[in-house]
Amino acid sequence: MNNIEILISEDEINSRVLEIADAINNKYKNEELLVVGILKGSFVFMSDLIKRLNMPLEIDFMIVSSYSGTESTGNVNIIKDINNDITNKNILLVEDIVDTGLTLSNVRNLLFNRNPKNIEICTLIDKKVRRKVELEADYVGFNIGNEFIIGYGLDLDEKYRNLPYIGKIVN
Ligand code: IMP
Ligand code: MG
Repeated sequence: MNNIEILISEDEINSRVLEIADAINNKYKNEELLVVGILKGSFVFMSDLIKRLNMPLEIDFMIVSSYSGTESTGNVNIIKDINNDITNKNILLVEDIVDTGLTLSNVRNLLFNRNPKNIEICTLIDKKVRRKVELEADYVGFNIGNEFIIGYGLDLDEKYRNLPYIGKIVN
């Protein structure tokens, strides 16, 4: 087994999730919200987050495959689309981590074409140094540098998503 160094503890995650939820609650008050998670990575964070939100909300999910074709065009393949009609709705896109930004900028553009009222982005982790396109998240849990992390939804070859903390592999 690999050794894992804890970078962000369960407690730190929990209190940050509360702070983010407060900010989202303040923004939307009693407005309806459609929370859209990008699978698979977002599901652990999203499930903790929505339990702290207090506006009327619905959830949906998308599965997108990261850039098929060249990295620079950044086209995403939609493997599973949302089922909801989003015309005039407030959308909150939830991600585990924004890295190059290609996935979310493509998803956001695609959803914008369906005439929602508003789209905001919430990510647990932001890796700004890796950005290839302009993409600012509206809610960010933690900023990290250029390192590969796992846990709390984040995987390495599909493993480690179940860890209750965020860490990195050290050998
Ligand atoms: P991007 O922003 O389009 O480059 O891609 C973001 C996606 O890359 C995330 O949803 C993750 O699936 C994956 N990813 C990027 N950095 C990491 C990491 O450090 N650990 C695990 N997955 C990562
Ligand atoms: Mg992902």
